Amino acid sequence: MNSIIVAIAQNNAIGKDNKLLCHIPEDLKWFKKLTTGHTIIMGKRTYESLPLKPLPNRRSIVITDDPLDCFEGCLMVTSILDALKCCNPDEENFIIGGASIYKQFMPLTDRLYVTRIHADFEGDVFFPDFSLNEWKLISSENQRIDSLNGFPYSFQIYEKIR
Ligand SMILES: NC(=O)c1ccc[n+]([C@@H]2O[C@H](COP(=O)([O-])OP(=O)(O)OC[C@H]3O[C@@H](n4cnc5c(N)ncnc54)[C@H](OP(=O)(O)O)[C@@H]3O)[C@@H](O)[C@H]2O)c1
Repeated sequence: MNSIIVAIAQNNAIGKDNKLLCHIPEDLKWFKKLTTGHTIIMGKRTYESLPLKPLPNRRSIVITDDPLDCFEGCLMVTSILDALKCCNPDEENFIIGGASIYKQFMPLTDRLYVTRIHADFEGDVFFPDFSLNEWKLISSENQRIDSLNGFPYSFQIYEKIR
Protein backbone atom coordinates (compact mmCIF):
# COMPACT_ATOMS: atom_id res chain seq x y z
CA MET A 1 0.00 0.00 0.00
CA ASN A 2 1.07 3.60 -0.55
CA SER A 3 0.89 6.27 2.12
CA ILE A 4 1.53 9.97 1.83
CA ILE A 5 3.15 11.69 4.78
CA VAL A 6 3.04 15.50 4.83
CA ALA A 7 2.91 18.56 7.08
CA ILE A 8 0.33 21.08 5.84
CA ALA A 9 -0.24 24.65 7.01
CA GLN A 10 -3.71 26.10 7.45
CA ASN A 11 -3.49 27.73 3.99
CA ASN A 12 -2.35 24.38 2.44
CA ALA A 13 1.26 25.58 2.04
CA ILE A 14 3.88 22.84 2.44
CA GLY A 15 7.15 24.57 1.53
CA LYS A 16 8.97 27.65 0.38
CA ASP A 17 12.29 28.12 -1.49
CA ASN A 18 12.71 24.32 -1.51
CA LYS A 19 12.60 24.21 2.28
CA LEU A 20 10.04 23.09 4.82
CA LEU A 21 7.90 25.85 6.34
CA CYS A 22 9.20 25.22 9.84
CA HIS A 23 10.86 22.52 11.92
CA ILE A 24 8.63 20.92 14.50
CA PRO A 25 10.82 18.42 16.41
CA GLU A 26 7.83 16.25 17.38
CA ASP A 27 6.81 16.08 13.72
CA LEU A 28 10.29 14.99 12.67
CA LYS A 29 10.14 12.23 15.32
CA TRP A 30 6.71 11.16 14.02
CA PHE A 31 8.09 11.10 10.45
CA LYS A 32 11.12 9.06 11.53
CA LYS A 33 9.06 6.58 13.54
CA LEU A 34 6.62 5.95 10.69
CA THR A 35 9.08 5.77 7.81
CA THR A 36 12.09 3.96 9.33
CA GLY A 37 12.53 0.52 7.80
CA HIS A 38 10.28 1.38 4.86
CA THR A 39 10.65 2.50 1.26
CA ILE A 40 10.33 6.27 0.83
CA ILE A 41 9.57 7.88 -2.53
CA MET A 42 10.41 11.49 -3.30
CA GLY A 43 10.91 14.01 -6.08
CA LYS A 44 14.38 15.27 -6.89
CA ARG A 45 13.81 18.69 -5.31
CA THR A 46 12.76 17.12 -2.02
CA TYR A 47 15.82 14.87 -2.09
CA GLU A 48 18.01 17.95 -2.65
CA SER A 49 16.35 19.68 0.32
CA LEU A 50 17.15 16.91 2.81
CA PRO A 51 19.66 17.79 5.54
CA LEU A 52 20.92 14.20 5.58
CA LYS A 53 21.21 12.35 2.27
CA PRO A 54 19.95 9.70 1.96
CA LEU A 55 17.78 9.44 5.07
CA PRO A 56 19.21 6.54 7.12
CA ASN A 57 17.54 3.17 7.59
CA ARG A 58 15.10 3.70 4.75
CA ARG A 59 15.14 2.59 1.12
CA SER A 60 15.05 5.80 -0.95
CA ILE A 61 13.52 6.08 -4.40
CA VAL A 62 14.12 9.41 -6.15
CA ILE A 63 12.09 10.45 -9.20
CA THR A 64 13.72 12.65 -11.84
CA ASP A 65 13.36 13.26 -15.57
CA ASP A 66 17.13 13.10 -15.93
CA PRO A 67 18.23 9.49 -16.60
CA LEU A 68 21.83 10.49 -15.83
CA ASP A 69 21.13 11.60 -12.27
CA CYS A 70 22.67 9.27 -9.72
CA PHE A 71 22.45 9.89 -5.97
CA GLU A 72 24.46 7.58 -3.76
CA GLY A 73 22.36 5.12 -1.79
CA CYS A 74 19.19 5.87 -3.77
CA LEU A 75 17.24 4.05 -6.41
CA MET A 76 16.77 6.48 -9.31
CA VAL A 77 13.64 6.26 -11.48
CA THR A 78 12.28 8.44 -14.27
CA SER A 79 8.53 7.93 -13.82
CA ILE A 80 5.83 7.40 -11.21
CA LEU A 81 5.14 3.99 -12.73
CA ASP A 82 8.77 2.93 -12.36
CA ALA A 83 8.74 4.09 -8.74
CA LEU A 84 5.71 1.89 -8.09
CA LYS A 85 7.36 -1.08 -9.83
CA CYS A 86 10.21 -0.81 -7.32
CA CYS A 87 7.82 -1.03 -4.34
CA ASN A 88 6.41 -4.07 -2.63
CA PRO A 89 2.61 -3.56 -2.64
CA ASP A 90 2.31 -5.79 0.45
CA GLU A 91 4.37 -3.32 2.48
CA GLU A 92 3.59 0.26 3.46
CA ASN A 93 5.51 2.58 1.11
CA PHE A 94 5.76 6.25 2.01
CA ILE A 95 5.46 9.13 -0.45
CA ILE A 96 7.39 11.92 1.24
CA GLY A 97 6.94 14.78 -1.26
CA GLY A 98 7.19 17.30 -2.58
CA ALA A 99 4.21 19.05 -4.05
CA SER A 100 4.50 17.68 -7.60
CA ILE A 101 4.93 14.13 -6.32
CA TYR A 102 2.03 14.36 -3.85
CA LYS A 103 -0.24 15.60 -6.64
CA GLN A 104 0.65 12.73 -8.96
CA PHE A 105 0.43 10.09 -6.23
CA MET A 106 -2.91 11.16 -4.70
CA PRO A 107 -4.91 8.82 -6.99
CA LEU A 108 -2.45 5.99 -6.19
CA THR A 109 -2.44 6.48 -2.42
CA ASP A 110 -4.42 4.62 0.23
CA ARG A 111 -3.57 6.56 3.39
CA LEU A 112 -2.57 10.12 4.32
CA TYR A 113 -0.55 10.94 7.44
CA VAL A 114 -1.14 14.66 7.81
CA THR A 115 0.46 16.95 10.34
CA ARG A 116 -1.84 19.96 10.45
CA ILE A 117 0.03 23.10 11.39
CA HIS A 118 -2.66 25.46 12.65
CA ALA A 119 -1.08 28.61 11.28
CA ASP A 120 -0.75 30.24 7.86
CA PHE A 121 2.66 30.33 6.22
CA GLU A 122 3.96 32.04 3.14
CA GLY A 123 4.62 29.21 0.69
CA ASP A 124 5.40 28.55 -2.94
CA VAL A 125 4.20 24.93 -2.99
CA PHE A 126 0.85 23.65 -1.73
CA PHE A 127 -0.81 20.32 -0.96
CA PRO A 128 -3.64 19.48 -3.39
CA ASP A 129 -7.20 19.91 -2.10
CA PHE A 130 -8.80 16.65 -1.10
CA SER A 131 -12.41 15.92 -0.30
CA LEU A 132 -13.97 14.19 2.68
CA ASN A 133 -16.22 12.48 0.12
CA GLU A 134 -13.11 10.57 -0.95
CA TRP A 135 -11.06 10.46 2.25
CA LYS A 136 -12.22 9.36 5.69
CA LEU A 137 -10.57 10.84 8.76
CA ILE A 138 -9.75 7.76 10.86
CA SER A 139 -7.60 9.35 13.55
CA SER A 140 -7.21 12.88 14.85
CA GLU A 141 -5.32 13.86 17.95
CA ASN A 142 -5.84 16.86 20.18
CA GLN A 143 -3.92 19.93 19.25
CA ARG A 144 -0.37 20.08 20.64
CA ILE A 145 2.09 22.96 20.89
CA ASP A 146 5.44 22.68 19.14
CA SER A 147 8.18 22.78 21.78
CA LEU A 148 10.57 24.78 19.57
CA ASN A 149 8.45 27.51 17.97
CA GLY A 150 5.14 27.32 19.82
CA PHE A 151 3.14 26.47 16.68
CA PRO A 152 -0.11 24.58 17.34
CA TYR A 153 -0.26 21.34 15.35
CA SER A 154 -2.07 18.00 15.31
CA PHE A 155 -1.58 14.59 13.73
CA GLN A 156 -4.33 13.19 11.51
CA ILE A 157 -4.71 10.01 9.49
CA TYR A 158 -7.07 9.66 6.53
CA GLU A 159 -7.93 6.58 4.49
CA LYS A 160 -9.27 6.52 0.98
CA ILE A 161 -12.94 5.52 0.81
CA ARG A 162 -13.23 2.48 -1.48
N1 LIG B 1 5.53 19.86 4.23
C1 LIG B 1 5.99 18.67 3.88
O1 LIG B 1 5.63 17.67 4.50
C2 LIG B 1 6.94 18.54 2.72
C3 LIG B 1 7.45 17.29 2.39
C4 LIG B 1 8.33 17.20 1.30
C5 LIG B 1 8.68 18.34 0.59
N2 LIG B 1 8.16 19.53 0.97
C6 LIG B 1 8.50 20.76 0.24
O2 LIG B 1 8.07 20.66 -1.11
C7 LIG B 1 8.93 21.46 -1.91
C8 LIG B 1 9.45 20.62 -3.07
O3 LIG B 1 8.34 20.24 -3.88
P1 LIG B 1 8.40 20.41 -5.48
O4 LIG B 1 7.06 20.11 -6.03
O5 LIG B 1 9.02 21.72 -5.79
O6 LIG B 1 9.48 19.31 -5.89
P2 LIG B 1 9.50 17.69 -5.79
O7 LIG B 1 8.12 17.18 -6.05
O8 LIG B 1 10.18 17.28 -4.56
O9 LIG B 1 10.47 17.34 -7.00
C9 LIG B 1 10.15 17.77 -8.30
C10 LIG B 1 11.07 17.09 -9.29
O10 LIG B 1 10.79 15.68 -9.27
C11 LIG B 1 10.92 15.18 -10.59
N3 LIG B 1 9.61 14.68 -11.05
C12 LIG B 1 8.38 14.98 -10.58
N4 LIG B 1 7.46 14.27 -11.23
C13 LIG B 1 8.10 13.50 -12.13
C14 LIG B 1 7.69 12.53 -13.10
N5 LIG B 1 6.40 12.21 -13.26
N6 LIG B 1 8.62 11.93 -13.86
C15 LIG B 1 9.94 12.23 -13.69
N7 LIG B 1 10.41 13.13 -12.79
C16 LIG B 1 9.49 13.76 -12.02
C17 LIG B 1 11.41 16.33 -11.45
O11 LIG B 1 12.84 16.28 -11.34
P3 LIG B 1 13.83 16.79 -12.52
O12 LIG B 1 13.75 18.27 -12.46
O13 LIG B 1 15.16 16.23 -12.18
O14 LIG B 1 13.26 16.23 -13.78
C18 LIG B 1 10.88 17.53 -10.71
O15 LIG B 1 11.58 18.72 -10.99
C19 LIG B 1 10.04 21.97 -0.99
O16 LIG B 1 9.72 23.28 -0.53
C20 LIG B 1 9.99 20.98 0.16
O17 LIG B 1 10.50 21.52 1.36
C21 LIG B 1 7.29 19.67 2.00
